[in-house]
Amino acid sequence: KKDGYDWYMRKEIFEQPRAVADALLGRWSAEGQLQLDELRLSEGELREIDKIVVIGCGTANYSGLVAKYAIEHWTRIPCEVELAHEFRYRDPILTRNTLVVAISQSGETADTLMAIRYAKLQKAKVLAICNTNGSTIPRESDAVIYTHAGPEIAVASTKGFLTQLIACYLLGLYLAQVRGTKFGDEITAVVRELELVPAKVQQQLDRCEEIYALAREHADTRSVLFLGRHAGFPVALEGALKLKELAYIHAEGFAAGELKHGPIALIEEGLPVFCVMPPKGRDQLHDKMASAVQEVRARGARTIALVEEGDDAASYADTVIPLPKVPTLLQPLVAVVPLQLFACELATVMGHDVDQPRNLAKSVTVE
Ligand code: M6R
Repeated sequence: KKDGYDWYMRKEIFEQPRAVADALLGRWSAEGQLQLDELRLSEGELREIDKIVVIGCGTANYSGLVAKYAIEHWTRIPCEVELAHEFRYRDPILTRNTLVVAISQSGETADTLMAIRYAKLQKAKVLAICNTNGSTIPRESDAVIYTHAGPEIAVASTKGFLTQLIACYLLGLYLAQVRGTKFGDEITAVVRELELVPAKVQQQLDRCEEIYALAREHADTRSVLFLGRHAGFPVALEGALKLKELAYIHAEGFAAGELKHGPIALIEEGLPVFCVMPPKGRDQLHDKMASAVQEVRARGARTIALVEEGDDAASYADTVIPLPKVPTLLQPLVAVVPLQLFACELATVMGHDVDQPRNLAKSVTVE
């Protein structure tokens, strides 16, 4: 069943090029329009949406954080992201024109289910992004986008995450198409980039031995930090979550700009710090983050930078993991892959059960 892999997780990491391709399948019509056939919400209803709230837990919450960057940029609709278990306890402002997007791989997470029931009582429209056909969350939602990743068995989400991102991007682009906030050729250009992603994820997987070697060097590590900015920030959070749940070590993700507001005090000699570098762009984010990386390096951290090919990262980082070129908003799709490989291998060398980490269940069906 594991196709020769030692763990389901490793198998599922390597299934990601196929999973992403399947998540994209059939979304583009012969007329050059995005189509979300399963959606069940009319174009009229989508035009009236004036606020989006994305809810989910764990990894699904991090997909939501990426979604916010993309959806607001493409649609100009205000988008909030909230942990599903916090959502209904804070008296959120919801109307008929609020779209609540509930992200859940399993479709059975109790926290997310309770949150959508609450949202429906408040008359908000609820759209599920889900991997499990016929599960409770999509059944109780007004609309659904299935992620088509295939069964995810390992407790740690991998292909579930990548395909949730694809569904979020498709939703953002579809809203932009329906509401006319992006020109058709701009939408086409992003879809073309998405179609190139399976091959780029495969490129990352082909370099797995380098990442495994890095993991083996860290077999005694007790703490790892992850830094990111913009869409790389949720990737940092996801990289840290993977290490917590699989390797049982202290791991934290930060927005790099936050360092000097406290976390830099954690830096000590030899501390591994993964840095998800923004691609070099017009907004100087890359250069600002590079100087943050230099600061932690000057304080003794071992900096491991994930950078776009061609970035001269050797000047500011100890170890460089090259990433294929992708637009900034899509970078999480390729940047998270080495972090998944790292966590899987580190947990393996530490002798842990990668597929069934202690104290965790695949689907959390109690609040
Ligand atoms: O099935 P769901 O997507 O609703 O699950 C949400 C979280 O429990 C899940 O993503 C969890 O954080 C994973 N174990 C992370 O790898």
